[in-house]
Amino acid sequence: MSYNFTVILLAQSLMLLLLWESASGFGLRCKEEERRALFQIKAELQQQIELEWKGMECCSWERVTCDPITGHVTRLDLGVGPMPGSILLNATTFLPLRQLRSLSLSGLGITMAGAGFESWSSLSKLKILDLSYNLVNNTIISSLAKVSSLRVLDLENTAIVGNIPVKEFSALNLEVVNLSKNWLNGSLPYLGDWSSLKAISLAGNSLDGTITSTGLCHLKNLEELDLSGNFFAGNIPPCIGNLSSLTILDLSDNQFHLKLSSSVFERAVSLRYLSLSSNLLEGTLSISSFSNHSCLEVLELSTSGLNFEVEVVNLPLQLLVLQLANCILDIEPTFLYSQYNLQGSFNFHL
Ligand SMILES: *[C@@H]1O[C@H](CO)[C@@H](O)[C@H](O)[C@H]1NC(C)=O
Ligand SMILES: *[C@@H]1O[C@H](CO)[C@@H](O)[C@H](O)[C@H]1NC(C)=O
Ligand SMILES: *[C@@H]1O[C@H](CO)[C@@H](O)[C@H](O)[C@H]1NC(C)=O
Ligand SMILES: *[C@@H]1O[C@H](CO)[C@@H](O)[C@H](O)[C@H]1NC(C)=O
Ligand SMILES: *[C@@H]1O[C@H](CO)[C@@H](O)[C@H](O)[C@H]1NC(C)=O
Ligand SMILES: *[C@@H]1O[C@H](CO)[C@@H](O)[C@H](O)[C@H]1NC(C)=O
Repeated sequence: MSYNFTVILLAQSLMLLLLWESASGFGLRCKEEERRALFQIKAELQQQIELEWKGMECCSWERVTCDPITGHVTRLDLGVGPMPGSILLNATTFLPLRQLRSLSLSGLGITMAGAGFESWSSLSKLKILDLSYNLVNNTIISSLAKVSSLRVLDLENTAIVGNIPVKEFSALNLEVVNLSKNWLNGSLPYLGDWSSLKAISLAGNSLDGTITSTGLCHLKNLEELDLSGNFFAGNIPPCIGNLSSLTILDLSDNQFHLKLSSSVFERAVSLRYLSLSSNLLEGTLSISSFSNHSCLEVLELSTSGLNFEVEVVNLPLQLLVLQLANCILDIEPTFLYSQYNLQGSFNFHL
């Protein structure tokens, strides 16, 4: 009897507690205004992405991250796809998310006609924006150039045409820019004043000309440079091998005519990925010049000509990928035994 009574009492106080919590919003982190905005965003995107967003606590919803202390939404990852279709996104719907730092809308089939993107200049915390795989095209550029907080901008495959919009972007302090798989043409403009730049990908466009006087060597913070799959020609500026922060250098699939020697990359000791493949390579290079490159994993030196000699000697590091198609090789016999991590792409054409 008294046992039952205790149970009932306990259950009653629990119910009271729950009622009080939901009535007062005690413990609720989500801001009402932001929750409403999220519901609106959900409705706008309902054709493209199914979001199980319900209830009051938006901070516990999938793809939503809140600041643990203030409860403001700081991150929204709505990237999917790529999805077919075209969504006229109303960009002003995002404005109540004033503390938003990172937003991905990758692959949602967004077209620019929805507009209102210039209003994002009031999202003063927005640092990371991923609009890759949408049909936003050039019309978005002038709007984004007003979002002065942006640091990382991903516009891979977004139907952007014409010249690289360096002028617009260098007004921002962008650190990472991905413009790969667009329809960019013309030559690489002068980049030497873009001092914040850490990573840029221009892969898979129709860019041409030479890169020798584009100021690349002034970019002391440059970590990633991907120019693969264009029509660039000529040599590289020799100073590029002095960029000691460079971890990824991909110049593959171009029309470069690179005159190489063992000293070229000697000082670029942070390199993890170096691909010069599918260009015309010339000269002699000993891979012993990479002895101090303790992070090097991928080394691709396949050439489209027949005048490039590579001395393949034992290295005090383990490569994952080594491509040397068409190179004239001088191989130390024990090299293969000492490289036990080499994977599929190991490619000697003797
Ligand atoms: C876009 O959203 C805002 C805020 O929700 C609303 O006031 C405005 O009418 C919408 N514009 C269009 C074109 O739907
Ligand atoms: C960009 O897309 C809009 C529709 O979203 C279209 O009206 C405009 O012509 C496109 N611009 C270019 C340069 O393709
Ligand atoms: C670059 O592309 C634009 C837009 O497609 C075109 O009008 C222009 O003629 C192209 N320029 C060059 C140099 O090919
Ligand atoms: C675009 O390039 C940047 C920098 O190289 C990289 O971090 C990012 O993952 C790339 N984006 C996509 C969609 O591959
Ligand atoms: C690279 O840096 C070294 C040391 O600072 C310097 O002596 C050399 O001239 C530089 N090479 C190029 C090609 O700029
Ligand atoms: C590697 O670094 C050491 C010490 O700085 C230096 O003496 C040596 O010449 C370097 N080797 C190569 C191949 O650059």
